[in-house]
Amino acid sequence: MSKMKTAIYPGSFDPVTLGHLDIIRRASVMFDRLIVAVMHNQNKHPMFSVQERMDFLKRTTDDMPNVVIASFGGLLADYAWQQGACAIVKGLRAVSDFEYEFQMALANRKLNPELDTVFLMTSAEHMYLSSSVVKDIAVHGGNVTGFVPDGIIQDIVRRTRKED
Ligand code: PNS
Repeated sequence: MSKMKTAIYPGSFDPVTLGHLDIIRRASVMFDRLIVAVMHNQNKHPMFSVQERMDFLKRTTDDMPNVVIASFGGLLADYAWQQGACAIVKGLRAVSDFEYEFQMALANRKLNPELDTVFLMTSAEHMYLSSSVVKDIAVHGGNVTGFVPDGIIQDIVRRTRKED
């Protein structure tokens, strides 16, 4: 059996923000392999398709060789088991994130007792950042520089212009 430690960082990533990227960078040095898993089949109406979201992630993590971009549906605990992952990585911002994340961590460990959730505290400058905030700014014609990686700004501008 491989001793390689794999972790999964799951999310919607619609789109990836600098807050996500900070968590990816920090988690990538803690594990041998980090799978950033874009969730599909969700009820939310995403701005970007799973393929687009994966493409944004690939473009912005290509300097991190042990980061793999993937997508998943169904239960995260099952996906983690299939991938041989020992941990789920989550970013925590405010206290308001805690209750929901705590509930999910306990449910996931109940479903897969070998699976622990590792929480990384967000960096202070990303405290207020979320994909929803980014989309709201973009839809209203605001500038998302400093919120998302520079390499995807044009993609966001193009998408929000199309929907005007
Ligand atoms: O970026 P998001 O939208 O906050 O990510 C939420 C995500 C994908 C982490 C969460 O919805 C999830 O884990 N979904 C998979 C379905 C599942 O396993 N549900 C039970 C968890 S208790």
